[in-house]
Amino acid sequence: MLPPGPRLPSPLQLAWFARDPAGLFESCHRRYGPVFTMRYPGFPPEVYVATAELAEQVYRTDAGGGNAGEARRDFLEPLVGAHSVLTLDGDDWAKHRKALTPPLRARQVAGYHDEIAAIAAEKIATWPLGEPFTLRDRMQEITLEIIIRLVFGIRDAGRIGRLRALLPRLIEAGGSMSVAMLPPRLREPMARLPFSPYARFLRVRAAVDAILFEEIARRRKEPEGTDVLSRLLATGLGDQEVRDELITLLIAGHETTATGLAWAFERLLRLPDVLRRLPDDEPYLDAVIKEVLRVRPVVYEAPRVLDAPLRLGGYEIPAGWYAGPSIPLVHHDAAVFPSPEEFRPERFLDGQQSRAWMPFGGGRRFCVGAQLALLEMRVIIREVLRRLELTAPDPAPEARRLANVTFAPARLTRVTARAHYPARTP
Ligand code: HEM
Repeated sequence: MLPPGPRLPSPLQLAWFARDPAGLFESCHRRYGPVFTMRYPGFPPEVYVATAELAEQVYRTDAGGGNAGEARRDFLEPLVGAHSVLTLDGDDWAKHRKALTPPLRARQVAGYHDEIAAIAAEKIATWPLGEPFTLRDRMQEITLEIIIRLVFGIRDAGRIGRLRALLPRLIEAGGSMSVAMLPPRLREPMARLPFSPYARFLRVRAAVDAILFEEIARRRKEPEGTDVLSRLLATGLGDQEVRDELITLLIAGHETTATGLAWAFERLLRLPDVLRRLPDDEPYLDAVIKEVLRVRPVVYEAPRVLDAPLRLGGYEIPAGWYAGPSIPLVHHDAAVFPSPEEFRPERFLDGQQSRAWMPFGGGRRFCVGAQLALLEMRVIIREVLRRLELTAPDPAPEARRLANVTFAPARLTRVTARAHYPARTP
């Protein structure tokens, strides 16, 4: 038996998803139960599950039968190339994952602590005081700088400046509907039309690639640094493979972390009792970050394309379909997280951990950058709160809206900043 789902025509299902993704998941869950099917035009049906146990059954397919790379390939390949841990499966994926994992382990990224703090301090000093601004954009400036300086390890001011200008353009063009949703067979013809969005995207990509290949060539000749690129160069990956993984880390790690930070402040500014305990109570700050990622998971799904049928909750999902958790629904399972709507960092104090907490996905495809993301969130929240007092000009909570593969605050977290008098000491 196939899992139930809305009977609306697929374009209307897509329109519903685009307008109110969180509401759509909740409504389907209420109506159809913990396993339901959505249909989007031009794609195989997608089955969402709403409990940790069912999610784990999907993650288990990472050992064979489930392809997370294929689920992302069509949208992402123009940007990340053909040698990216995001879009590969099987042995090729395993080879790349093995190269990326060691430099992103907790112990390795801990070495970036002070530099992350310095980058944050440098950027926070430029924020406007006394007038509202969009925090997510400012967070993106910080997380972009971290990628350029600590992940790519670029030190030359000229090159940093060029990448600062080019990378946001690359991400925007590469993530736009006219590039990400362009059927692969139309890429060639569109590339030949100089004013098409695809051709414009290719020009920005070529400019970025020229800088990255130059940097890779230079660094192959120079002694190792502590950045991720230096460590990747030592793994035996070729130049094109290294380039593809650098763009992968940018795409997977920049907007996601900035959006997680934007949600942290969106929530904290509406929870004065929680905010009052920050930033100095370290275990509490860690628990707050986990609770932010639980109530407002940035990434809403972690799908696999099945290459064999899968039994899930009494249904049989056919090969060729997508299956994966709806992360917001799993995080609101009252059996695991009582009163799931309430913001309670205490759930995560004393090292309490739940397998239902999955903002970074699961299985073998678990987010390789999770430790870096958590470190960035911890350090940046601390640096902001030590320097500034933030308020929300509009106290109403911000709704969730779709931004590429993330759920972002509808107004990207509007805040007003004031300096602390006197400044709090670290
Ligand atoms: C709050 C920030 C972040 C969130 C919420 C997040 C979430 C996720 C999720 C849900 C997945 C899919 C996992 C699955 O399919 O089971 C993923 C994969 C991935 N993430 Fe993250 N991520 C974040 C930050 C980062 C950072 C900072 C980096 C690196 C710099 C990164 C690199 C990756 C990569 C390379 C993958 C693909 C892994 C694979 O397929 O083997 N992410 N992330």
